Formats: sequence, structure tokens, C-alpha cells
Amino acid sequence: MIFNIQKEERALFELLSQAAKKCGVPAYVVGGYVRDRLLGRPTTDIDVVCVGDGIELAKTVASMLKPCPRVTFYGRFGTAMLKHQGMEIEFVGARKESYAHDSRNPDVSPGTLEDDQLRRDFTINALAVSLNDEDFGSILDPFNGLLHLEQKLIKTPTDPGKTFSDDPLRMMRAIRFAAQLKFRIEDETFEAIGKYKQRIEIVSQERITTELEKIILSERPSIGFKLLFKSGLLQIIFPELAALQGVEVRDGIGHKDNFYHTLQVLDNVAEKTDKKWLRWAALLHDIAKPPTKRFHPKEGWTFHGHENLGAAMVPRIFKKLRLPLDHQMKYVQKLVQLHLRPISLTKEDITDSAVRRLLYEAGDDIDDLMLLAEADITSKNDAKVKRYLRNYKFLRQRLVEIEESDRLRNWQPPISGEDIMKTFGIPPSREVGIIKNAIREAILDGEIPNEREAAFRFMLERGKELGLEGRGEELKNRGTEDLRN
Ligand code: CTP
Repeated sequence: MIFNIQKEERALFELLSQAAKKCGVPAYVVGGYVRDRLLGRPTTDIDVVCVGDGIELAKTVASMLKPCPRVTFYGRFGTAMLKHQGMEIEFVGARKESYAHDSRNPDVSPGTLEDDQLRRDFTINALAVSLNDEDFGSILDPFNGLLHLEQKLIKTPTDPGKTFSDDPLRMMRAIRFAAQLKFRIEDETFEAIGKYKQRIEIVSQERITTELEKIILSERPSIGFKLLFKSGLLQIIFPELAALQGVEVRDGIGHKDNFYHTLQVLDNVAEKTDKKWLRWAALLHDIAKPPTKRFHPKEGWTFHGHENLGAAMVPRIFKKLRLPLDHQMKYVQKLVQLHLRPISLTKEDITDSAVRRLLYEAGDDIDDLMLLAEADITSKNDAKVKRYLRNYKFLRQRLVEIEESDRLRNWQPPISGEDIMKTFGIPPSREVGIIKNAIREAILDGEIPNEREAAFRFMLERGKELGLEGRGEELKNRGTEDLRN
């Protein structure tokens, strides 16, 4: 079969071909680029393999380009990379690989094109397009990759046990491709993942997490997580998540399976947004259900406090998964912590102050929190789902109204700690905190309006109760102008 070279790639393919001829080496475009182009997926990475010195070929290609791009060399792997018109082009000599048992770094020796295709992970990633005069543009497909693309099948080119024990990351890649492309993993290949799953332990956490995130960012992430669970990999790489699976029944009372519920919530969120951290929050929202699960003869199953413990587990999980421990983690933590709040505000006779408080706590993340809360309704009872969604609609309306009147998103109380210290002439102390909290609570509870004058008066009263009159009276007489300086 001939690869349908598009107009925009023809010049590059021809240039690669001329460079290969100059070096006297057969060369091919191989791997993910060929796969993605045949599937009509966008791609900017091109891998070029040549039967000879890949670094020499990269240098020759660079010298033929204007302006001449910088070539980056990866000595240890004998590869070179250059960037050209938004494409990253990587060059490598065809090779055979053999692996030591405890390492992902192979011993490499030169090989033929077919050796190189055989050492690759899946048949759909082992397709090569010739850049050579005699068969320019032909697809070389010794392992039926084209058929498997059509059949939507993930299969290793050789014994899957060998492919996976050579590089155990490929077990994650198989599942990630199945999720991303909505392909099926061929039975023998999938069984081998179950058999070699423990080998994932030699892979670095960063690489595992990269694959996990690709699954999370796929259109329907549940596909990948179900496969991870079914293969047994999830239990090794993410035991807290795997622990959500299962239903316990006592006195004839069961609870829902929190693993499948979580995946449904994640899929629901994924339908609405590509935001990665919101998807992480969906994945982790019920993570503390297993450790908080109790059975009460009267109440049945409860998971009291799972939102608090869940929020406390987030930093541990982020650290283990080598995710960033910064504002993104805080955001996930906040959503896990608050995920039950919107539903509690859909009951009748909820006061404005409760809604105001949520707005204050969620700040700018209120819309994401509402999206998560809506996605969290996974009941099979249609009437129930409709009722919840209707209630959420009312809550959203109230949030808008209260936000308009009180402007509480990212709100800071109108009196600061500095103001308090200045007014009472006191150093940083417990009293400052007490007064500051009291002002905030009074505003959130609607006891006093969200205004500086009212807050100032309130501060003086609370100060008095704490025996802090001092300069307060003096300032009161002069008004609040003084504090603005
Ligand atoms: N490859 C492999 N084993 C791996 C990683 C990569 O055999 N563990 C081979 C595959 O042939 C793959 C090629 O190297 O197509 C390029 O790898 P990479 O760029 O990491 O992946 P892609 O397949 O291009 O896909 P993606 O960019 O989505 O990761």
C-alpha cells in the first residue's frame, strides 16, 4: 500500500529522501506519525529511522534546511532531533535491542529495518513509510499493522511477554492507546499485561503518571481505568483508587460500587470539559470512601467525613504520583473538600448566608464545583436525576443573585489584620485573629453588610468585648478616614 503523502508534507519527505541518498542509507518514516496520519489524527512528531547512522542523517538534513536548525543529540540513545516548521523530527539508526531484567535501558546493536520494527511496542506503531527511490511512499508492514488499524486492535508485533518485559511501560501504553483511540487490546496481549503487571515497578513514576494523565484526558476515561483495573495494574500503581471497587452487603443492605460511580462522574465531567485538574478532582472526589465506610444498623452504610479525609489524602497522592504540589493541587483539594456542599444547598429553606458562605469558600472555582456536583449525580432513576438537576438550576440562579449583590468571589473582608493592629495599637496576636474571623463570619452570616463602615463599627465592639479599647475610641471619633492612610 502507498502512503497518501499530503501536499504540506511532500517537500519534507522529499528532502529527507535526498538527505538519505546523500548519506547512502535507506531511511523510513516510522511509528506514531504514520499511525496518526492514517487515522487522521493531528501530529507534529516525526520519527525517521535509517539503516545506518541516524546522527549523520540528522546533520545532513539540517545542513540542507534554511535557516539551518540546531540539532540536539541524545548520545546515550544514539538519536538526534531537530525542529522544522513546527515539526519535531527525530532520527535514529535501525537497531536491535536486548534488555536486562531490571532495567528499561536496552543494550543496543545496529539492525535491519525489520529488526527495528519488531522491537517496537505495537503493530500499529511499527508501520514504516519508505523514503527511498525504489519504493518511495510505500508502507512497509511486516506485522499487519494496517489490518489492525482497520480492526481497531492493539497487538504486539512479537510475543507480548517479551515486548512487555523488555519495557513494562508498554503495558500502560497499550491501555492508554485503547482509551485514546477506542481500540480493543487483543486477548493474548491483554493476558500478558496481567501476567507481567508487577514489572511496572521498574518504570519511573513520572512515566506512569504521564500515561495516566493521557487516559484522564481521553474522551471517555472510564475505558482506560476499567482496563487498568481488570489487568491488575491499577491495584499496583494506584491502590487507593482500586480500593473503591466492590459492594459490601450487610443485613441485606448494600452500597453503590464507588469505583464505577467515580468513573461515571469522571466521564460526565469529561463530556463537559477538557480541564485536566477538574478531571483529577472528579477522579479523587470520593477517594476516602473506603477508609470512612461504616455500617450502622439503623442508618445503613455511611461515609461520614469522606470529603475531609479525601482532601487530606490529595497531597499524599499527588506526591506519590509526582504531580505538582502547588496551586493545582490546592484546587483539586478544594473541590474534593467542597464536593458535597452544592447538594446540601438544594434542600428547602436554605438561607442566603449558607449560599454566601459557599461562594466565599469556592471563590472563582464555584463554576467548576457546580459542574462536579452535577456530574456526581449518577442515579439510574431518571425522575431523581431530573429533580436534582432542577434543584441545581435553582441553586445556580441563587448563586448568581447573591454574587451580584454581595460580590463574594475572591472576596477579602473590608478590615484587614493590619487595620485591627493599627486601631487597637496591638502587635500581631491571638486577638487580631479572633476579631478578623468575627468580622468575616458576621458578613457571611448577613449580620452586618459587606461594607467598611459597618465592619469598622463591628470591629470596635468586638475589641471592646476583648478589653481592647485604647486607640479605638479615639479613632471612632475621627471616623475611618484615618485607617485609609
Ligand atoms: N515505542 C516503543 N515503546 C515505547 C515507546 C515508544 O516501541 N515504550 C516506539 C513506537 O513505535 C512509537 C515510537 O516509538 O510509535 C514513538 O514513540 P512516542 O513518540 O513515545 O509515542 P507515539 O507512538 O508517537 O505516541 P504518543 O506521541 O501518543 O506517545
